[in-house]
Amino acid sequence: MGGPDYSAQNRGFREVFKGVFRRGRERRLYTLSLAPSKSHFDEDLIKTPMGELREWRPERSKLAAALLNGMKNMAIKPSAKVLYLGASHGYTPSFVSDIIGKKGFLFALDFSPEVVRRLVLVSEERENMAPLLENAVLPAGYTHRVSRVDVIYQDVAQPNQVEILMKNVDIFLRRGGTAYLALKARSIDFSEKPKAVFKRAGDELKRSFEILEEVPLAPFEKDHMMFVVRKR
Ligand SMILES: C[S@@+](CC[C@H](N)C(=O)[O-])C[C@H]1O[C@@H](n2cnc3c(N)ncnc32)[C@H](O)[C@@H]1O
Repeated sequence: MGGPDYSAQNRGFREVFKGVFRRGRERRLYTLSLAPSKSHFDEDLIKTPMGELREWRPERSKLAAALLNGMKNMAIKPSAKVLYLGASHGYTPSFVSDIIGKKGFLFALDFSPEVVRRLVLVSEERENMAPLLENAVLPAGYTHRVSRVDVIYQDVAQPNQVEILMKNVDIFLRRGGTAYLALKARSIDFSEKPKAVFKRAGDELKRSFEILEEVPLAPFEKDHMMFVVRKR
């Protein structure tokens, strides 16, 4: 009762998760930039009394798509340690870096030298982000450079996505930690119906995890599902 009017003060932005903002019913999100005035992806930068907000688009980020589609379990929060598999140029990783803030840390891994070049430039602007040129299928190659983490986020679009996740979870995810798996049905089996692919993946995940949520990513991404699971 009678508290400050943050919506007016902050130009209509409201915090929907810690470090994640939305304005009205816009189909996009915003994060508070850790690298103010820097835009690596042509995103809009908006000055507010809270700090500079960066526009985060669901058409470019499966994590933003899942949040806008109602995902409830958001373990990517201030201070979290995150291992990101399939970081590409760093679009979604840059927003993860904003959300976890200076007390968090992000290991951002990709096996393609072309995209890691740009990922390195993005990481140079952010003290909480380390780029790694590694293959997620071979975690032994980076055990000495990655610590135990609270969250693994995986978006590698490979046929053996579940197996890749398991390998990394066994080594890096703390017990009770959360993993996000952005599953692309057509990467797993082009001929099978997406529903059947998701059912099979869910059954496989259930053997090792508690499944917290399954969030379809349409209309932003066709035939994709975000699985949110917890390590027992
Ligand atoms: C769909 S893109 C990721 C987009 C990114 N997550 C984002 O939202 O900004 C998939 C990425 O996974 C990477 N990838 C595929 N297989 C991989 C593997 N075995 N190890 C590491 N990276 C892999 C690809 O090089 C590609 O950059």
